[in-house]
Amino acid sequence: MNKKYEALFTPFKIGEVEIPNRIVQCSMGGTSLFGWLEPSHFDTEAADFLLKRAKDGVGLVLPGMQTVRDTMGKKWLDSNRSMYKQLKPYMDEYHKTGGKLFIQLAGGFGRSMAVTPWMAALGRNDFLNKLASPIVDVQYACASASATPNRWADNLTSRPFTIEEIQEMVWHFGATAKKLREAGVDGVEIHAVHEGYNLDQFAIANMNFRTDQYGGSLENRLRFACEIAQEIKKQAGSDFPVSLRYSVVSKTKGWRKGAMPYEEFEEFGRDMAESEKAVKILEEAGYDFFNCDNGTYDAWYWAHPPQYMPDNCNLADVEHIKKFTNSPVACAGRMDPGTRSVPASAATTAASTSPSSRAPRTCSPWATPCIWAAARSTRPPCSTIATRSFPPRTRRRSPSSAAASAVWSALWSSSSAVILPSSSRRKISWAACS
Ligand SMILES: Cc1cc2nc3c(=O)[nH]c(=O)nc-3n(C[C@H](O)[C@H](O)[C@H](O)COP(=O)(O)O)c2cc1C
Repeated sequence: MNKKYEALFTPFKIGEVEIPNRIVQCSMGGTSLFGWLEPSHFDTEAADFLLKRAKDGVGLVLPGMQTVRDTMGKKWLDSNRSMYKQLKPYMDEYHKTGGKLFIQLAGGFGRSMAVTPWMAALGRNDFLNKLASPIVDVQYACASASATPNRWADNLTSRPFTIEEIQEMVWHFGATAKKLREAGVDGVEIHAVHEGYNLDQFAIANMNFRTDQYGGSLENRLRFACEIAQEIKKQAGSDFPVSLRYSVVSKTKGWRKGAMPYEEFEEFGRDMAESEKAVKILEEAGYDFFNCDNGTYDAWYWAHPPQYMPDNCNLADVEHIKKFTNSPVACAGRMDPGTRSVPASAATTAASTSPSSRAPRTCSPWATPCIWAAARSTRPPCSTIATRSFPPRTRRRSPSSAAASAVWSALWSSSSAVILPSSSRRKISWAACS
């Protein structure tokens, strides 16, 4: 194997948990272990897919994002006893691979929630929203730090979370993490200060106009995310690793206006100066790992880079932020060791030279070809971007799960704003790691 790739196959630690190598499969909605936006259940098809990636040698696998409260039906994730019962034997099997698995937990979408026109109509009408709320409570699903415009639908404004709702959710993050640990899961990742979802909307000054303890100063805006880490440590144990999915900078010029690579612009969201302070606050609160990229849904192509984005589009920013934390850092976004990076958003660009100080790199589900190529050295490893299809659904679903899926599909089928059409659940890009 080319010596330059040896660092990729060395272990690293997140808290006390050792990850056998530096290949991290990042979360992708569609690979969620407990169902994607459906009522939570143990998804055997996703479980099989994730286990195969561990058998292929991915050191750390993160299934797709999971909200701590079901978007459909509003059931808390910690309340599903049979799901955790099924999870336990799965984790025993999973650990035979030597790999580790963290579950990514989220506090919802807030203003980034993709809604159909008629969901938006529900969200605007208190009476109709209440009527529909046993199935889907659009106002709750879109609730945010403050009254801010929906990313996708005109004339739909998020309602602010109440303090009671914030604290209730914080507790459920802790309770869910405890259940996951008991079932053998190795750690959790909080989809907090990332991608412009609900918890990121609390963190960004231009999206948070609160005057209580969750708004104003940077410390206050990060309080929700910090309390989540603290509650998890309290309920699941101080040695249970908590990773943070973290967008270093937002790459936005305004509401729904993303910045392009190499463009000079004034940051509307989180800029690098604030990010340097934020990682320190978050680390101090208990986060053990920063799994990084850039962007929000207003600049979605940084966090979900299509083929037209430059290689290593987030790497320089992530290398820069590594200088402000002692925790390990990962980077996602068209990783390719052979090409140059987009310049960092800050004036200085970090140069990480020694393998030991280098951030563990991440890649998408199809990490296998990277390892395979690196091992065989038959072509420059990790240099190809391709698409693959998920295996077709063969499993017969339970009537309730099938019915839930049908309702959810119907809810979204009329939308032109849906960002994850069913085709993207079957066809996802895989990219490189170094
Ligand atoms: C279809 C799709 C779904 C995604 N879902 C999530 C998610 O649930 N949570 C998350 O943190 N990132 C999510 N991401 C971002 C990826 O984890 C990853 O950071 C991104 O694809 C960039 O890495 P890559 O260029 O190696 O694909 C998603 C990306 C895609 C393309």
